[in-house]
Amino acid sequence: MDPDSLTAELERFSAETPIERAWMPPSSWYTSPAFHALESEAVFQDTWQPVARLSELSSAGSYVTGRLANQPWIVVRGDDGELRAFHNTCRHKGREVMTGCGTCEELVCGYHAWSYDSAGRLKSAPMMAGVEDFDREAMGLKPLQVEAWGLWAFIHLGSPPSSLEVEMRELNEGLGAPGWDKLTFHEEKTWQIRCNWKVVCDNYLDGGYHIPHMHPSLDAQIEMGSYKTELYAKHSIQTAPPNKGDDSRIAIDPQERIGDAARYAWVYPNIMINRYGPCLDTNIVTPTGPDSCEVRYEFFFNTDGGTEAQRFIQESVTQSDVTQREDIEICESVQAGLSSKSYVTGRYAPKVELGEHHFHCLLASSLKRALS
Ligand code: FES
Ligand SMILES: [Fe+2]
Repeated sequence: MDPDSLTAELERFSAETPIERAWMPPSSWYTSPAFHALESEAVFQDTWQPVARLSELSSAGSYVTGRLANQPWIVVRGDDGELRAFHNTCRHKGREVMTGCGTCEELVCGYHAWSYDSAGRLKSAPMMAGVEDFDREAMGLKPLQVEAWGLWAFIHLGSPPSSLEVEMRELNEGLGAPGWDKLTFHEEKTWQIRCNWKVVCDNYLDGGYHIPHMHPSLDAQIEMGSYKTELYAKHSIQTAPPNKGDDSRIAIDPQERIGDAARYAWVYPNIMINRYGPCLDTNIVTPTGPDSCEVRYEFFFNTDGGTEAQRFIQESVTQSDVTQREDIEICESVQAGLSSKSYVTGRYAPKVELGEHHFHCLLASSLKRALS
């Protein structure tokens, strides 16, 4: 798609049009490689992204690596206790210096053994004697912005307009006193899904519209009549109280699992944090192509660890799995529909799909800013 066509496709969604009159972004946003490339820079390289759990980075020398929007990164806990992040790109020939995660004394590139300390400074570069104008001090790893919030280390691949702490201030409240220090990591699962990353967000943000039709088990746990969505500058929160009374469709007590309310927080562009009862889980969705993405699920619990708690955790993860599988099936089917010659764009249900519309408005603004 040439730049003019990209601009024209972008213009087909208007953030200024109220939801009652608005049409959804056209399917090209969900299928075209040009949109995928634009989002990589304008969205994923320009927002705070949670890349590691702080519990993985608790001791000196602990590190986690990965790639985000095609950029290799590494987060390290220094000997001085500071959290630092770098482009995980060796200054010799560009290989990723470290891979996976673990604890180390120094960061050593496996290719030709250049090594860096936890502050990113070049320590040794074998066989480089005799190289002219070789300024070791200038050959350290290139730093990235890193901040901690909640249970995670976030990085920003560009120049953040504000600190993460400022961006997330309102969200702590919306999550209903998350009690971060009492939550313990239980497990992580990663799913590869054959759909554009936005399909996952849209599905999450439809205000519970699909729950009665697609999630019988979740529908039995929450009271859909009281489901509501609240919009904020860069996030939205959907809440629903638990269902009272027994429902034979589920093997878990909704009031035990959900507590006073389920809170589903979404943070622009791709972070979903679900808080209910003693559970907190996340879905972090990142694109892997125009029509594929990866979703990372993490489960945390605030329980005493006893046998009864173990049973509850297992049942809760099972329930969550059921919902995720149902959502994956929906999302892959929607992607097939978005590629159909018959479908270009749709309309919003204004009373429920306001979170989805809010997401599209924020996205349109990022993309238009990047193109202009
Ligand atoms: S690329 Fe890292 S030492 Fe050569
Ligand atoms: Fe769903």
